[in-house]
Amino acid sequence: MALSTSSSVTLNINGEKHTLSVDHRTTLLDALRERLDLTGTKKGCDHGQCGACTVLVDGRRTVSCLQLAVASDEREIITVEGLADGDRLHPVQQAFLDLDGFQCGYCTPGQICSAIAVIEEHAAGWPSAVTEDVRPEAGPPPLTPEEIRERMSGNLCRCSAYVQIVQAVARAAEENRTETEETAA
Ligand code: FES
Ligand code: FES
Repeated sequence: MALSTSSSVTLNINGEKHTLSVDHRTTLLDALRERLDLTGTKKGCDHGQCGACTVLVDGRRTVSCLQLAVASDEREIITVEGLADGDRLHPVQQAFLDLDGFQCGYCTPGQICSAIAVIEEHAAGWPSAVTEDVRPEAGPPPLTPEEIRERMSGNLCRCSAYVQIVQAVARAAEENRTETEETAA
């Protein structure tokens, strides 16, 4: 009996379900770009090394060139196309725009998806490789430029817009912190 080389998957992308038949070797990145026309997610290296293809899968940043579409079945996927609320940009998108966190823009969708997860990971108290005090009771470390650079180190920018990217992430993180405190008060 010949084994099937394709399967039906349901990709839940930006709140919309798409059911399609995919070759088992199809990556999530190729399914997004080639099958669903969601070309906001970029292909840089196709080897998990540049971060251009970063999307959020179940809230975690994921390089979509290394994830198979069949492994994404029924998972919740957010791409750059799903971040804005109508005409209102996501605060991280707005910060990148206001602070010139890009030049050619090719790496930007991945940078923004990654930054959203970085802000959440940091707020949840996750340490990074440069966090000095990693005891849980120490809470989130100050989000210094060094912390941001380390946490964003999986996202390369060939235009080298790193200075502005760090500033944009810092501003969006600060806005997120203020909003969380105001909601809790
Ligand atoms: S295209 Fe996926 S990490 Fe470079
Ligand atoms: S803005 Fe051009 S690669 Fe980052």
